[in-house]
Amino acid sequence: MKTFVEQKRVLILFYTFSSQTRNLLNSLAKGLNEGGVEVRFEPLKPLEPPPFPVGSYFGAFKMMVAAFLMRPVAVAPPDKNCLSNWDLIICAGPTWSYHLSGPMVYFLQHYSAGLLAGKLVLPLISCRTYWRLHAWEMGRYTVKSGARVMPPLVFRHPCPGLWCAIGVFIKIAGKIPRGCRSLVQRHCPRYGHSPQQIEEARDLGARLAEVLREGKIDENSRIEGVLRKGSRRDSSSKVC
Ligand SMILES: Cc1cc2nc3c(=O)[nH]c(=O)nc-3n(C[C@H](O)[C@H](O)[C@H](O)COP(=O)(O)O)c2cc1C
Repeated sequence: MKTFVEQKRVLILFYTFSSQTRNLLNSLAKGLNEGGVEVRFEPLKPLEPPPFPVGSYFGAFKMMVAAFLMRPVAVAPPDKNCLSNWDLIICAGPTWSYHLSGPMVYFLQHYSAGLLAGKLVLPLISCRTYWRLHAWEMGRYTVKSGARVMPPLVFRHPCPGLWCAIGVFIKIAGKIPRGCRSLVQRHCPRYGHSPQQIEEARDLGARLAEVLREGKIDENSRIEGVLRKGSRRDSSSKVC
């Protein structure tokens, strides 16, 4: 006799400014799909999207200060189809000035109660280095919405240090001081996540699909345990 197994469904709510989170999520979703899980993406859409790159040093500095003050950036309401019976909701986005990004702050303040209440939520963080305050704030907002929150999955840029901070600032500004190009490129040869991290996200998606299918996932599940069972690990990504 054949038994009918219901397909597991994952909603990925995310914001991305310079496509790093999107690159990770596309790969994660590939792994989930390969594992037979249905995935729906819901990007947070700012009503006045900040341009990337910003185009000036002053503009980039202003953006960082606004982010440090946790100024919300208004986003459109999520699609009504997001109000559904998801097995897992992944809330993903970058760290901005140690905090949640402005669009994520706005989403969590205005729309999370209806969407996240009673759901299992996995925060995913893309950052250069700093993620703890971001993770704590995400936990605080999502628990307040009535969600069951898992420990976050954190991907850090593989090139840390001061030069990488300078590289990120230059990338946001979209300008590089004349005469500094080769110096910056020597110390910070690439911006963002490595191809290994993108590949690792795919492995992780496949493993997540497996535990979802087996019903072995809840707010106490440490994704580290999921990863340890056989996926490639990159020292620059951190699961806590
Ligand atoms: C305004 C702004 C502030 C940032 N502040 C931080 C920070 O405090 N700590 C950090 O580790 N990364 C910081 N970053 C870097 C981003 O978190 C990182 O580049 C991330 O991978 C970008 O993801 P995204 O392309 O999906 O937006 C900042 C980026 C921006 C645009």
